[in-house]
Amino acid sequence: MLTVAMCMALVACLQAQELQGHVSVILLGATGDLAKKYLWQGLFQLYLDEVGKGCSFSFHGAALTSTKQGQEFITKVLESLSCPEDMVPRRCAELRGQFQQLSQYRRLRTNEDYMALSKDIEAQLEHKGLREAGRVFYFSVPPFAYADIARSINSSCRPGPGAWLRVVLEKPFGHDHLSAQQLATELGSFFQEEEMYRVDHYLGKQAVAQILPFRDQNRKALDGLWNRHHVERVEIIMKETVDAGGRTSFYEEYGVIRDVLQNHLTEVLTLVAMELPYNVSSSEAVLQHKLQAFRALRGLQKGSAVLGQYQAYGEQVRREQQKPDSFHSLTPTFAGILVHVDNLRWEGVPFFLMSGKAMDERVGYVRILFRNQAYCAQNEKRWVADQSQCLPRQIVFYIGHGELGSPAVLVSRNLFRPSLPSESWKEVEGRPGLHLFGRPLSDYYAYSPVREQDAYSVLMSHIFHGRKDSFITTENLLASWVFWTPLLDSLAHEVPRLYPGGAESGHLLDFEFRGTQLRFSRQQLEQLVPGPGSAPKPSDFQVLRAKYRESPLISAWPEELIAKLADDIEATAVRAVRRFGEFHLALSGGSSPVPLLQQLATRHYGFPWAHTHLWLVDERCVPLRDPESNFQGLQAHLLQHVRVPHYNVHPMPVHLHQRLCAEEDRGAQMYASEISALVTNSSFDLVLLGMGTDGHTASLFPQSPAGLEGTQPVVLTRSPSKPHQRMSLSLPLINRARKVAVLVMGRLKREITMLVSRVGHEPKKWPISGVLPSSGQLVWYMDYEAFLG
Ligand code: BG6
Repeated sequence: MLTVAMCMALVACLQAQELQGHVSVILLGATGDLAKKYLWQGLFQLYLDEVGKGCSFSFHGAALTSTKQGQEFITKVLESLSCPEDMVPRRCAELRGQFQQLSQYRRLRTNEDYMALSKDIEAQLEHKGLREAGRVFYFSVPPFAYADIARSINSSCRPGPGAWLRVVLEKPFGHDHLSAQQLATELGSFFQEEEMYRVDHYLGKQAVAQILPFRDQNRKALDGLWNRHHVERVEIIMKETVDAGGRTSFYEEYGVIRDVLQNHLTEVLTLVAMELPYNVSSSEAVLQHKLQAFRALRGLQKGSAVLGQYQAYGEQVRREQQKPDSFHSLTPTFAGILVHVDNLRWEGVPFFLMSGKAMDERVGYVRILFRNQAYCAQNEKRWVADQSQCLPRQIVFYIGHGELGSPAVLVSRNLFRPSLPSESWKEVEGRPGLHLFGRPLSDYYAYSPVREQDAYSVLMSHIFHGRKDSFITTENLLASWVFWTPLLDSLAHEVPRLYPGGAESGHLLDFEFRGTQLRFSRQQLEQLVPGPGSAPKPSDFQVLRAKYRESPLISAWPEELIAKLADDIEATAVRAVRRFGEFHLALSGGSSPVPLLQQLATRHYGFPWAHTHLWLVDERCVPLRDPESNFQGLQAHLLQHVRVPHYNVHPMPVHLHQRLCAEEDRGAQMYASEISALVTNSSFDLVLLGMGTDGHTASLFPQSPAGLEGTQPVVLTRSPSKPHQRMSLSLPLINRARKVAVLVMGRLKREITMLVSRVGHEPKKWPISGVLPSSGQLVWYMDYEAFLG
């Protein structure tokens, strides 16, 4: 006991000691907008919070502007700094005066400037006999300037031994996964991960910062509730009344998804969805749980999003960027996204993310709406807020603005009385007449911060105290881009719906979901202005029917194609079950069938899953739970969402006797026996194939004879690409199927599609050309890019 107490005292001592000493804060971009609006105020707040606690400070505002202009600018900004409401004016003026004394402007352009800054800091320390605690460099500059500044800091401006360096970075952190990775690698060559503090200012918003502590402090009440059995839906919303006017050069490149959904709203999503770490104040545990949540997010498809653009945006872009009248922007200023989290806690619960510029109100919130399973026997008039289970039950983290006008945490009274730290959160006073989310404020236990703080002030304090859990690590950043980039790519040419903006938008932007698809609730009856609608939309095209290699060809835009193929598979399944009592479907692996599997995964009602057997066309010789395994893909995208009896699922036995695909283990023969035992005549009802750019299909490759002919139904083969070893159904077995569907998608397939259209039966060169069911049907499914280029 004594030892524990001594250790704790020692830790407290060390922590206290760490705060002793001198901290230099260098604000780069000190004359910019962000600095003017938030950062100087945030630094002043830091000073107010820390002054007299044993640490001394100096603040260096830096930019490229001349010293005279810069100093003038800063002097003006510093004069306008405000103190908390409860501070007496005299004390405020005194502290502001001290802060002004400690703040200076300096021009930082060249490496020599950084060297000089470092020398000045050292000289000042020596002169005053101070120990250096650390240096903060706040990058409030555009990302193209990052590398040069980072290089200079690293080479010439690091603090001496024993003192820390913290570099604070502002978004955008890349434009997509690749650019974010490049930027991260570049920064990683100058700074250690623990030195970098990537800001997402939403993590400094008080209601957002309260999500994990709230979940932690109310574990007992939430344990049984925070899951798919009780949560009906989660809404993560950020509406703005401002538009993008004045910053269209930035906005044109980014759009609403990159600007706020990829970062702010995704961060909030992970805080709600992640498993709660045992210790919520451990940055490492929070990060690991966040990453786990990212891994559970189901991939987004084009149909997961609805996009809008406020009507005046196009004109603003043309004006601000001197574009011709014919220029039409496709940049979305509004987006609604449907996200699913595929794990046991959240399966089936829709998470709506939505943000827009030029909306009818400014408000941000996360709303967790619970299912209502009760029936109340009394008349509605007699329902009492804290007792009736029929009234809506919701928890809302109210980020700010809106009707309430301040951050808050709201918990319906019929749920439970929440516990919040009383030193920082107080109960909101009654506001008769105020309704939020359909209920009077009095229906909620409602708490707001004792002292409202701006996000940047909160973050400044966290930077100073080295609290990394409020910042975005490289892994976190890349995980988010991995999630968003495919959707952004698929939406690149999508035409957003025009909306007038403000209250006039009416119900134009309302949206709803069906399965995994999101769509506007209302048809757009008229185009508001001759806008970006001139680009062709998928729906402008009909599904094209033709012939390819003398077999039926179905061609369409990817989404329609996948929907059509899924329909056809379902119809075949229903017919087979009706006639034979079961349906045997053999599926290919790889990335092309993923959207199809995801589409099939939504078909819970019409598809006869209970009578469906799932087989694999081919498999990579890796353990089944390896991410490269075809079976793993099937599991992730289909099996975990539908109810197929376990004994109807037939993975290929590539992993036997602790080794992979050894001839002696006779895995291929085992699979063949299983097929012959369960599938009448070894004739599958449907085999789904793909076509590689080299003409391979299943795992049957050109110039490698295995499986192209002969009597062996299942074979071991070798792929030119990794993992080389494969197991595959043979062509003769495939050709026994009642129906074979070949799915070919994407521009990369264009050349092989043209080539194969001209060749005869030459499976040794192009195994796909050997696919011709002896008595069954062959149908080609190609998207326009693969078919028309
Ligand atoms: C920024 C976006 O990150 O957040 C802006 O770049 C947006 O487009 C802003 O307006 C909103 O922040 P807040 O704190 O006003 O909700």
